[in-house]
Amino acid sequence: KTPVIIDCDPGIDDVMMLLLGLRHDDIDVKLITTSAGNQTQEKVMTNALRFASYIGEDVEIARGADKPFIRDLMIADDVHGESGLGGVELPEATIKESDRTAIQAMVDVLQRAEEPVTLVATGPMTNVGALLLAHPELKAKIKQISIMGGAARGGNVTPHAEFNMYVDPEAAEVVMQSGLPIIMSGLDVTHKAYLNQSDVDALKEVGTPLTDKLHGMLAHYMGAQGDSPFLEPYYSDVLRLHDLCAIAYIIDPTLFHGDDYYVTMETSGSKTAGATVVDHMRNMNHEPNVHVLYGVERERFVNLFFSVL
Ligand code: BDR
Ligand code: CA
Repeated sequence: KTPVIIDCDPGIDDVMMLLLGLRHDDIDVKLITTSAGNQTQEKVMTNALRFASYIGEDVEIARGADKPFIRDLMIADDVHGESGLGGVELPEATIKESDRTAIQAMVDVLQRAEEPVTLVATGPMTNVGALLLAHPELKAKIKQISIMGGAARGGNVTPHAEFNMYVDPEAAEVVMQSGLPIIMSGLDVTHKAYLNQSDVDALKEVGTPLTDKLHGMLAHYMGAQGDSPFLEPYYSDVLRLHDLCAIAYIIDPTLFHGDDYYVTMETSGSKTAGATVVDHMRNMNHEPNVHVLYGVERERFVNLFFSVL
């Protein structure tokens, strides 16, 4: 089993990612930490506690920062709704929030780990960036960081920036320049990692209380993200499960295609702040620092998700 710490901001696609991570036999989730992003810290914490409780997993869930390094928090309630889970009600949590902070808990898990731990980060990079700045000595205990964020081409919150990177680009830059192996599931690949209508119908047909809840969340998600003629297929026709890629890669990297590139964050552009500058033509004369994914075997990816339902 691969030991993993998950940092996330649930969030509809975060919940799908948590389900796969918590239920898959190859993954051992040591800790979940919450990053303010899709909704406020308070709400994403509530969602994480309730969802893990709902699927019957007992795992430590520790609270991260309320806001980015230096910017104001921007949330994605337009996509994920007022609660962060598209209005789907989950029962009160049976798991209690950890009494330590995200950083304290991550430090402890890493210090005790017998083998290097994989970090999976599917919200803004605030907590992971803070950990790396405060405890550079713990890099030796981190095997790799699999992130959902960024894009070599295009954005979804501005023309050039993807949401997680846009919210806290300064923290993201700490992660990118950490010297650790980074795997980037950006929009280049996550736009190809979708459920089509027949997958959504198949999910409904499973007909368990859990799949009914998931179906309800996805019904809200469908079409909530805007559309663009530069996207094929359109958002209104498919459901892109961005965050799922970051954990799916850890379970089975052969699902994906990618290559190593130099990546750095745009932190000051007046129109491009939060963009991941990916040297995809290799003309910046810099050693690669990130394994950037650009392709996915979609049907196998969807089958992996269904395997835990
Ligand atoms: C990312 O932004 C969030 O809204 C999603 O949960 C995902 O992590 C996609 O850009
Ligand atoms: Ca997310």
